[in-house]
Amino acid sequence: MAKKPQENILKNIETLDAIAAPLLRWFHSEKRALPWREEPTPYRVWVSEIMLQQTRVEAVKPYFERFVAALPDVRALARADEDTLMKLWEGLGYYSRARHLQSAARLICSDHGGKIPARFDDLLTLPGIGRYTAGAVASIAFGERRPAVDGNVLRVIMRLLACPADILKESTKRAVEEALIARLPENAGDFNQALMELGALVCLPRGAARCPSCPLERLCLAKEANLQAELPQKTPPKRRRTEKLTIFLLSKNGKIALEKRPTHGLLAGLWGFPSMEGHLKKNEAAKALQALGLIPAKLHALPAAQHIFSHITWQMVGWHVELAETSSDEPSAATKSSPASTKATEANTPPASLRLHEATAPYDAQTKTPPFLWATAQEIADIYSVPAAYRSYFPYLQAPDGASS
Ligand code: ADE
Repeated sequence: MAKKPQENILKNIETLDAIAAPLLRWFHSEKRALPWREEPTPYRVWVSEIMLQQTRVEAVKPYFERFVAALPDVRALARADEDTLMKLWEGLGYYSRARHLQSAARLICSDHGGKIPARFDDLLTLPGIGRYTAGAVASIAFGERRPAVDGNVLRVIMRLLACPADILKESTKRAVEEALIARLPENAGDFNQALMELGALVCLPRGAARCPSCPLERLCLAKEANLQAELPQKTPPKRRRTEKLTIFLLSKNGKIALEKRPTHGLLAGLWGFPSMEGHLKKNEAAKALQALGLIPAKLHALPAAQHIFSHITWQMVGWHVELAETSSDEPSAATKSSPASTKATEANTPPASLRLHEATAPYDAQTKTPPFLWATAQEIADIYSVPAAYRSYFPYLQAPDGASS
């Protein structure tokens, strides 16, 4: 296929010819001591880059140390059970990163003899590894001359070139990659990290650039034209939509029901508290639960809460529900759900209006009860990773004192 010309997107590209030497000098004296930098094995570099994809360096540090201590190599990661993996990731968010990391580890064991591939093109075939991460791992861990263009790097380059192109466009990223690949020095890993570090420490976003501390100030066309605050340009993100939810803390024998979330979409495959669409009033909540074969003995209202994801806001109301024992209780409850791939069939699919979620394990047609895992508050704290979106309800895992009934 003919290549789309990228040359026109960037102007004054020759400005980049002179950046390597001052940038690397600055990096060697100013770089932060980071755990993955001290011992840049391929495994540590890979894990750190995945964690850093959507999370700040300072936030990643403790997670990284704990993760590589618990799962020190590719084989340990490939073998880890799901709850251990999710617990190690708990609080970092964007949990699909952890799942992809493990899928990639399993592929590395099965197809690459347990060795992380060294080449950019091979890294790119692994789950969770896009062009940025493949470039970062190939250059930092293996010395391949490849750029690694993340948001920090884009900001630095667009300011250096005083370029108004939209950095959210794939074509802009590709143009920057092409511009850099032709100019990478021998030690591409250091060069890439230096650009990221400059973006993180000096060439700060939202008009906060610290130009007097910048080793590239003399070369920077945005500085010359006083355009630092205007660059880079981004198309405004789409507005977040709001979802109204009713969260249930279903309580029985001192345990709380957890439900596996659907295998696709928001918080895919993670444990969550059962929930229903809409804000259900007390009688509506009781009816909806009864329709599922659950018998609420007491309902306590919990405070409303909100959680903001990148593209969705959850507006939640909550009910703590003490369930009465039923004769048909045990068969459907108290067991861990079966593998996520088990699909509900026509015959055992609950009516849509009664679904807590799209079932990830067979719905019990006889009792109409969805498959729950029953866990104590301590087990939820220690074993099962329930994402931060539900955090507002953690204080109510035991029967709520002050809650109104
Ligand atoms: N952000 C992403 N990767 C990084 C790295 N290797 N060093 C500093 N910041 C980063």
